Parts: sequence; C-alpha cells; structure tokens
Amino acid sequence: MERTFAIIKPNAFAAGNAGKIISRIYSEGFSIVGMKKLYLSKLEAEGFYHVHRERPFFGELTDFMSSGACVVMVLEAEGAIKKWRDLMGATNPADAAEGTLRKEFGDSLEANATHGSDAEDTAAFEIGYFFSGLELLV
Ligand code: RTP
Ligand code: MG
Repeated sequence: MERTFAIIKPNAFAAGNAGKIISRIYSEGFSIVGMKKLYLSKLEAEGFYHVHRERPFFGELTDFMSSGACVVMVLEAEGAIKKWRDLMGATNPADAAEGTLRKEFGDSLEANATHGSDAEDTAAFEIGYFFSGLELLV
C-alpha cells in the first residue's frame, strides 16, 4: 500500500464540491487515512509550495491557496501517487480528460480544484507538513 497527499483547493471547497470529490475518492477505491479542513495562511502556502518559489506564478498560486478554506487529506491505495494524479487529470482543466476531477471541478489553470503529490519524496514531505503520526493511525 502507498500513501499520497491530496488537497481540495479553495475554489472547489467554496463551490460546495468537497463532498462530491470525497465520494469519488471512495468510489475509486482509496482509503482516507487523514483528513481536515483548514485555512492556509500565505506563509503556510509558501512553505508548502516552496519547490515553486522561483516560478513566475508563485505569488498568485500562494495568494489563491490562502484565499479560502481547503481540505487536506492523506489517501491510501495500491500505487496511490499515480492513481490520484490520474484521477485528478491534467494540471490545466482545459486539457484534462473527461471523467477527471479537474475536468469536472476545475475553473482555471490556477483554480484547478485539487492537488496531488508527484513522487514518493514529495508525498512524504507534504504528508508531514500537515499531519502528525498520531493523526494517521488507522
Ligand atoms: P499540484 O502540484 O497543485 O497538484 O499541480 P501539478 O503538480 O499538476 O502542477 P505543478 O506544476 O506542481 O503546479 C502547481 C500548481 O501551480 C498552478 N500553476 N499555475 N500560471 C501557471 O503557469 C501555473 N502553472 C501551474 C496550478 O494550480 C498547479 O496546480
Ligand atoms: Mg505539483
């Protein structure tokens, strides 16, 4: 079993789509081993996305991620990292395949509804950024 880290981003939470996304997570066969709603500060969003700190969109991305409440989750499944990225679809909702979360719930390249870790090392960092071991007991 593998774990990955996921976020329901502020646009999807504000639109009332968290429930539909969580329902889809279960129907696709993931377990949710950690979950909480929170409201990231700008500083917390910058720390989370520090890998992108040199990118031109860093300021806008971290403004958006601190613009409203999110749901952060740890998901578990066989091959969870790839499985969750496949379910999310392409980064830009305009390019995302039919049936993916970003196609259905994404509003723009930035407000693309969900986040998912892209590798084992980033999943470990991102899970530890939001959850303690005690919060992930199953
Ligand atoms: P994420 O990290 O959020 O799961 O998305 P991702 O791996 O598919 O995309 P990544 O390259 O890591 O980019 C992180 C987030 O930054 C926003 N973005 N904006 N304006 C731009 O050119 C641009 N490019 C990326 C997106 O919200 C993307 O999810
Ligand atoms: Mg990424």
